[in-house]
Amino acid sequence: MLILLQQRLELRRFDEASTETDAMHVTLRQLEAFTTVARHLSFTRAANELNLSQPAVSMQIKQLESQLGQALFEQMGKKIYLTEAGHDVRQYARSILQQVDDLKAGLESLTGLERGTLSISVATTAHYFAPKLLSIFYERYPGVNVKLDVTNRESLISQLENNTVDMVIMGRPPEDVDVESGAFMENPLVLIAPADHPFTREKSIQLKRLENEVFLVREEGSGTRKAMEMFFAQHGIRMTTGMEVSSDEAIKRSVQAGLGLGIMSRDAVQNELQLGLLSVPDVLHFPIMRHWYVMHRKGKRLSPVAQAFKGFLLEEAAPILNKDPSSRPSATQPQSAAPPASQPHAESPVGEKYAPAKPKYVLTGPDGNPIPPAPRK
Ligand code: PGA
Repeated sequence: MLILLQQRLELRRFDEASTETDAMHVTLRQLEAFTTVARHLSFTRAANELNLSQPAVSMQIKQLESQLGQALFEQMGKKIYLTEAGHDVRQYARSILQQVDDLKAGLESLTGLERGTLSISVATTAHYFAPKLLSIFYERYPGVNVKLDVTNRESLISQLENNTVDMVIMGRPPEDVDVESGAFMENPLVLIAPADHPFTREKSIQLKRLENEVFLVREEGSGTRKAMEMFFAQHGIRMTTGMEVSSDEAIKRSVQAGLGLGIMSRDAVQNELQLGLLSVPDVLHFPIMRHWYVMHRKGKRLSPVAQAFKGFLLEEAAPILNKDPSSRPSATQPQSAAPPASQPHAESPVGEKYAPAKPKYVLTGPDGNPIPPAPRK
């Protein structure tokens, strides 16, 4: 703000004959001195209020008058009065200074988390849990305005590349974009089948038997599809693909309708499993163990709101979403009562390690002091 006050406000007359010599150089300091003198109608009292010498105040007024080409005060006897031009300038000066104060308050509230925008993009599959997290974040910072985009992995990577978003939530950081990433929660991909599929009556099914099944797959560019293809390739299993469907919801309906099997984040199928509309057969090497990551371009200057949200995800998302075991069962817990016959397939970790017990994320303001979150309602 001080820098702003000291900066020169350059006003130019944009008339046809405008030349460099027409430029007016009016400073906020001059306007402040002027409005103070106009209020007191005394250079001495204005100087006291502004903590300046009287000649310094007179100098500011003289410079302002010379820039405007008008006398702003006239002296009669021992008293000074505003001229007609002085009255006009006073109105404009007040309004300019008021706007500068508003600007200052706006910037302060932005840095104070009272207001501000969070622009976040999440993988299609992450939209099953992102709104719950956002609603808790909103409760704490009610003035924050969130822009949420839901799209697939490929377009998230291009948003990261073009730096058009504060941060992204997806299944695994891209290899070819320089990002800072942190895993904040497990993301097991499960095999889904119709509720009455013969597999549901068996235990410890060999992976090889999946070669006799047809799989519904997400569109090219989907992270889920990529993980699924890698999983089958790593285990040397030939995958027969049926329909390509660009929505998790449509895949679930198609699996229910008997069009094939699917592989999907467990976050996306909670409701269907609870309602008994789908099943998760006990096939060896499942689930495919992944993680949810929050990430942004390396070196990006995050706004206080974005920093707060990142800290919130890294520290609190997993405990919040895992609190109710019925809505988000432990990732390694099998759907059937039998113990798992094999280790789940784990993707190698990337970026920061998933560490729910890490020390509290401290959000600091520009002065380096911690900014406390608004209390929970
Ligand atoms: P998807 O993303 O919605 O593109 O499949 C999930 C992921 O990033 O793993």
